[in-house]
Formats: sequence, C-alpha cells, structure tokens
Amino acid sequence: MPENFKSRDKIIKEWINEIGRVVLANIDSQLEIEQKTTPNDLVTNMDKWIEKELVKNIRTVFPSDRILGEEGFGDSIEDMKGTVWFVDPIDGTLNFILQNENFALMLAVYEDGIAVQSYIYVVTLDRLYSAIKGEGVSCDGQQLPEPRDSALNEGMLATNSSIMIEEKYDHIRKIAKASLGLRLIGSAGLESVEVAKGSIVAYIATNLKPWDVAPGLLFMEELGLKATQFNNEPLNLLENNNIIFATKKAHQEIIKLLN
Ligand code: IPD
Ligand code: CA
Ligand code: CA
Repeated sequence: MPENFKSRDKIIKEWINEIGRVVLANIDSQLEIEQKTTPNDLVTNMDKWIEKELVKNIRTVFPSDRILGEEGFGDSIEDMKGTVWFVDPIDGTLNFILQNENFALMLAVYEDGIAVQSYIYVVTLDRLYSAIKGEGVSCDGQQLPEPRDSALNEGMLATNSSIMIEEKYDHIRKIAKASLGLRLIGSAGLESVEVAKGSIVAYIATNLKPWDVAPGLLFMEELGLKATQFNNEPLNLLENNNIIFATKKAHQEIIKLLN
C-alpha cells in the first residue's frame, strides 16, 4: 500500500474517532433544525459542526487538497484534478433527527478522479467501514469477503423513497418485483454498506449527490461489484446521478429492466 494512503488512513480514522465521540456524547441534546430546499431536506447544527471540524482538519494537514462538502463549508469543485475530498457529515439526516440511529458520517478521497480511500462510520454502533484502493474493504479492521454474485431473485433490493412515491418512476418498481423483497434504510451510505456485505443484491436510487455515492463507489470497485448510472455509464462525481450499486448478475438484470 502506498505510504501516503497508509498515513492518511491513520489520520482520518483518528478524526472520525474523535468526532464520533462528540456526536455520541450529544446524541440526546436538543437539535437546531433548519429546512434547506423542501420540508424533508433538513440540516442540523450537528451536520454543520461535523463538516466544519472535518474541513478544518483537512485544511490544516492537507492544505493544497480541495473539499466538496454537503453543507457548503468546503470548496466549489468543477473538475476532479488533484486530491479531492467528499464529505457528507451525516448521511441520513432525517433518520438522525427522527430515529437517533441509521445514519453515518462519510468521507472519500479521490486522486485525479480515481477513488483511493473511503470511510462510512456508523456512529451509534461505533462501526467503521473503510476501503483503500487495492486493499479491499474492511469493517473495524476485519476484511470483508467479496459477496456471492447473486441474481435479483436470490436477494433483496434497496431503493430511495423517490422511486417509491414519484409517478415518473412507476416503471422502475418492476425491479422490486423481480427481487425477493424491498428495503429502504434512508441512508445511501448504509445502503452501499449492505451491498458490500452481500446482505442486499442491489441498491438503486435517483438523484444522489456526489457525496452520497463517492464512498460507496470504492467499496463496489474493491469487492468486484458494479457501480453505474441507470444508463450503464460510469458515475459522474461532478453531478447528481441515478445510480445502481449491485452484484454483476443483478446489475445486468436491472439494466435490462430499465431499458
Ligand atoms: C440522503 C440519504 C437518503 C437519499 C437522499 C440523500 P442526507 O442524504 O442518503 O437515503 O435517498 O437522496 O440526500 O441528506 O441525509 O445526507
Ligand atoms: Ca447524504
Ligand atoms: Ca448529509
């Protein structure tokens, strides 16, 4: 493993550990909640605090890197040149507010457009999923095996709520019928983790932001899984994407059902 990946991995894990401890210590505190675009697009003081902490840490240790953060404390990114960090301070903010669980802190590092390191930290379980390019994916240091290449009718599908409720996606719901069952967790990061673990065969979701998909993409690449847009093109991390994270077999079936 390149030395710079190794040392950066150690630093990132320390940051996550420290921030995670503060989040857990304040999990029952009163939140300040603000609406962003719509009533279910919310941000809390905790989302903002986590992102500010991460941005401050990155800027201190890696001053020439650029950062794309969901809450806007990073940079505006128009290309993927050099080292770019993706930060989603709380993925699953609605779950964080309403359930106090089922959310994750997410980070990913890209070098010249290639995913090299990614982190999905399940705060309430103190469980860290991480990946380094060429080194696979691990959970708290334990390597994840490549999942079996299951077909859609051998496993469950996860999706986002838009696919369930918006009329324009009526035709997509037949994919759920072809699977053994449907699951909605409400956190793109946690859904990526379920695909990586092989406990669901595919996650399909519309209009995901770059920070929602940047960490999961490396998990898929490292575990022999597929990650594409609905049109079978590679993900574009400078735009929103309709994505498929899946086993090879399920991916092929989903592409067929979509076209
Ligand atoms: C959201 C979650 C959700 C997905 C949304 C995302 P956020 O992220 O990942 O599962 O369906 O599209 O925006 O806003 O909670 O960080
Ligand atoms: Ca998110
Ligand atoms: Ca978020």
